[in-house]
Amino acid sequence: MGQNRMLWLLDALERDPRADAATDVLARRVRALPLGSARDALHGRWLGHPVHPLMVQVPIGSWMSAAVLDLWPGRSREAGLLVGVGLAAAGPAALAGAVDWAELHRQQKRVGLVHAVANTAAVGLYGTSLFCRLTGRSGTGRAYGFLGLTAVGLGGMLGGHLAYRQASGANHAEEVPHVVSDGWHGVGTVDEFPAGQPVRRTVDNVPVLVVRETGGTFHALAERCSHLAGPLSEGTISDGCVQCPWHGSVFRLSDGWNVRGPATAPQPAFDTRVVDGHVEIRLRRADGTETPAERGAEADEAGTRAEGERRP
Ligand code: FES
Repeated sequence: MGQNRMLWLLDALERDPRADAATDVLARRVRALPLGSARDALHGRWLGHPVHPLMVQVPIGSWMSAAVLDLWPGRSREAGLLVGVGLAAAGPAALAGAVDWAELHRQQKRVGLVHAVANTAAVGLYGTSLFCRLTGRSGTGRAYGFLGLTAVGLGGMLGGHLAYRQASGANHAEEVPHVVSDGWHGVGTVDEFPAGQPVRRTVDNVPVLVVRETGGTFHALAERCSHLAGPLSEGTISDGCVQCPWHGSVFRLSDGWNVRGPATAPQPAFDTRVVDGHVEIRLRRADGTETPAERGAEADEAGTRAEGERRP
């Protein structure tokens, strides 16, 4: 089956470089905003995933409800109130989205820019709608409101593309516990790991970062950064942490905790031991995490079920 027109347009948008220069300037300005620790709060590090999708519920919900009330005779006043609530909530939601956007890949930034333009247009239309309502032109205010809802719908569709097809806010280390098998895995002899240097190894086809501290203690983390899969083995080691070379997230080597964003999820961590001069690592599994063996059993069961359903 071929690609539909909508997908073709979205993919073309990802590939379109025309706004790249402006995008780079804008992203630099967003990164230069003096937000301090509020930046990580806006990324959603405290929540464990991006906070922007949560924050947009207020403006979208308010504006959607206003549209319903606008279709109800005599509810213009309440609809106007909801338009105002949506406008008040749109600013913080946009700021959270902007700080996330400034740390994305180029293709994600292109889609994100149009997402932001659509939502900015929605804010302008709803602002005009509120002005019209406050100056006694409720019919025109309603019309602007419906135009705003159309713009916010377009913005939402682009946001969905950004989040799900382009995986902009996903945890890029989530699959590690489902892929790495239980038990100890050899990753090399002790002398293959110079003190304080990040070394990349592979376990069950999963890249792993191994670091030997000056005192001889070994640490191992999933190597692909949870933010956007940046290579932590090319990062900087300091103060018991590794800093991602792509967008600067900082992870504690001892347990993978994301000390600094934009990463909102920690790195899966491994236990380490040295046996006869050989370094071995074992995934530190949170209780209840599905192992590859359990996953395989589930897949077998699903296959058997599907086979039974196919049989006449
Ligand atoms: S990939 Fe973005 S901080 Fe690591």
